[in-house]
Amino acid sequence: ISELAREIKASLKQFPNFPSEGILFEDFLPVFTKPDLFQKLVKAFQLHVGEQKVDYVVGLESRGFLFGPTLALALGAGFVPVRKPGKLPGPVFTAEFKKEYGSDKFQIQKDVIEKGAKVLIVDDILATGGSASSAGELVKQAGGDIVEYLFVMELDFLKGRDKLDKPAFTLLSGQAEKLQN
Ligand code: PRP
Ligand code: MG
Repeated sequence: ISELAREIKASLKQFPNFPSEGILFEDFLPVFTKPDLFQKLVKAFQLHVGEQKVDYVVGLESRGFLFGPTLALALGAGFVPVRKPGKLPGPVFTAEFKKEYGSDKFQIQKDVIEKGAKVLIVDDILATGGSASSAGELVKQAGGDIVEYLFVMELDFLKGRDKLDKPAFTLLSGQAEKLQN
């Protein structure tokens, strides 16, 4: 995994002071322009998951949609989206969470995940953990059993993983960082 992670890391592009002053933004979109790198990203997650049973990969809108379905296919699992409010038809569960300014909501469709189904929650970045922990709440309300959380990167100084009640795996650990305080 570390060799795959090193190659993926080398392809990232850094944007200082985006999306706000003092933040060094690590853009992982270049990974998707190169099929061999995209393959390696999926492979690395697949190796990490190993023999653990997974019924569903739950991806968070929007950037968790970029590789969530591909990972699901590679694992032989289904894909279930967690979306921003008002996007999903039919009965939904809703969870509110704090963002940098104000709050936001996520939703998941009811009756999609069977009770006790094994679920992986995936997203590009773990920052404050607000998005991921609310997705976790939704999965539990929907009856799923969270195996773990998977992220490409993590802003570890924000301690987002402390908000999660299941293990969190970050592929490129220590990659994303703050420029200054
Ligand atoms: C970003 C990122 C994660 C989330 C992490 O998404 O893609 O989903 O923030 O932040 P948190 O840990 O503090 O909740 P964003 O809300 O910018 O939306 P996007 O994925 O639609 O671009
Ligand atoms: Mg996001």
